[in-house]
Amino acid sequence: MDRNLTIKYEEYDSIDGLSANDRDLMEHAIGATRSAYAPYSHFSVGAALRLADGSVVCGANQENAAYPSGLCAERTAIFAASAQRPDLRDYEALAIVGRNCNDELCEASPCGACRQVLAEYEGLQRHPLRVICMLAGGRVRVIPSVSALLPFSFAM
Ligand code: THU
Repeated sequence: MDRNLTIKYEEYDSIDGLSANDRDLMEHAIGATRSAYAPYSHFSVGAALRLADGSVVCGANQENAAYPSGLCAERTAIFAASAQRPDLRDYEALAIVGRNCNDELCEASPCGACRQVLAEYEGLQRHPLRVICMLAGGRVRVIPSVSALLPFSFAM
């Protein structure tokens, strides 16, 4: 039997189309690009995660001379949040922004490994974790859940 998957998401011309909360999260992610350690790719990524109590935990990609030892911004943010606030593993939204080697903001969308990690944390809570991505030209995409980004994710 054939089955179909449809993903619903929103796009806006700029962060001004977002709610005040989400715009603030995006601004945290933009700021977090400055915390990247990316001497090898020269591509910085900033991530900002809003917890259920409204607090924000930021992350940025951290690279290493032993390349696979580095970590993406999204996992840096959610692992930091989970480690610092194990009592509040309840995440509302994650904003992600790229900054290229010309110091311009640009598109960033979570890689497959980050999607798998985000999916597991989303599975711990009763509501979806929204993902807000910067796109080219300052546009913004809002994906309503991690499961929309990674259907059929691995779980035990
Ligand atoms: N990167 C992230 O931080 N997040 C992603 O979702 C994709 C890629 C980082 C990893 C590496 O430091 C740099 O971007 C270039 O791949």
